[in-house]
Amino acid sequence: MATTLDAAERDYFTNNPPPKDLKANTTLAREFIGRHADEGRRVVLVTSGGTTVPLETQTVRYIDNFSAGTRGATSAEYFLENGYAVIFLHRQFSLLPYSRHYSHNTRSFLDFMKEEHGRVVVDEQHQEAMLRVLRQYEAMKRDNQLLILSFVTIGEYLWNLREVAQLMQPLGPKAMFYLAAAVSDFFVPQDRMVEHKIQSSEEFSATNSDAKGNTLARPPAARTEGRSLVIDLEPVPKFLKQLVDTWSPDGIIVSFKLETDPSMLVKKAQYSLNKYAHHLVIGNLLLTRKWEVVFVSALEGEKWIRVPQNRRTKSFSGVESMVGAADAGREKQDSHHSIIADQGAAPQGEPAVEIESLIIPEITEMHTKLIQQAQQNKTSQTI
Ligand code: PMT
Repeated sequence: MATTLDAAERDYFTNNPPPKDLKANTTLAREFIGRHADEGRRVVLVTSGGTTVPLETQTVRYIDNFSAGTRGATSAEYFLENGYAVIFLHRQFSLLPYSRHYSHNTRSFLDFMKEEHGRVVVDEQHQEAMLRVLRQYEAMKRDNQLLILSFVTIGEYLWNLREVAQLMQPLGPKAMFYLAAAVSDFFVPQDRMVEHKIQSSEEFSATNSDAKGNTLARPPAARTEGRSLVIDLEPVPKFLKQLVDTWSPDGIIVSFKLETDPSMLVKKAQYSLNKYAHHLVIGNLLLTRKWEVVFVSALEGEKWIRVPQNRRTKSFSGVESMVGAADAGREKQDSHHSIIADQGAAPQGEPAVEIESLIIPEITEMHTKLIQQAQQNKTSQTI
């Protein structure tokens, strides 16, 4: 079984070419990791945003997903605040740490500005908040603590993940992987991808040829049949296994599990932890992800993190009444069950709390324990 999986992963990198900027990215990452390793700092790779699945080589159409990169960009800020160096591997044009406060907003960034004596200044009501963000941003730049890399497609994501993970190996347990990106589960392999735009009318039906003009050996994964567009995707191999076993055997690995059905969340998170035997799975539901998550780990069992009711950030897409639904009736069954920062603890009128400000200190503490554990194991092996 393991060999079949390994082969699927090996074949992936043989059959799907590396992105053009991979070399430039690895040069930057090597220098960044080396510098922070010399200074004894922890380094976290945060992945963020959704991967696309192109349907044509000269891509006009692609499959995408909902992720805006809020979780990743916000978490990156709190990791920096907790002393980590951060490699932020994100979907191009998704949210970025710090600038996220003023981009992708319902308002334009220009609404934060005004003209005063022929100069552009920040409006009085935004001064305090923007100054705070600007100071954090400048401190991070001064200390060279953040490296920003980007991907668009699933292929670009996987190649970058593999290369950066391998470069992080010398950090041992000081390396952490925080895999918040929404990664495509299905894709079009290179040998089933047409070169040119899929025609919407059969009269102009494409020739099913690749970049060299050769007819594809297998039918294209995306094609028109009659008046329909037929898309027949193949599974992306699960790279978590490869990351844990080979690319980063000593690194600390935090994966995410996204579900929409509350009854599946803890089960699936637990399943993932058992299957890949890594350190922590963070489960979240699509509709409550800004207010609650569940940690599932061998170290601490099941632990819910919830923003108190009167300190929750606003969300247009979230459904607050669903908070607690994935946890209903579970407390009494599980002795390892605990809840951090539950409802009703804060007085009305307090500022909103981002859930990542609760998640990252918890992870930092867990990371300290895991580093100590790794050191103890090493010492007992040498005695
Ligand atoms: O960006 P936001 O709008 O803030 O949303 C944040 C989020 C909901 C996307 C984020 O919190 C989250 O849950 N990210 C993970 C979503 C996801 O891909 O879940 P999954 O069940 O498909 O995958 C689970 C894990 O397997 C992931 O950590 C992924 O890295 C890994 N995986 C996935 C596919 C694949 N081929 N190989 C993998 O190893």
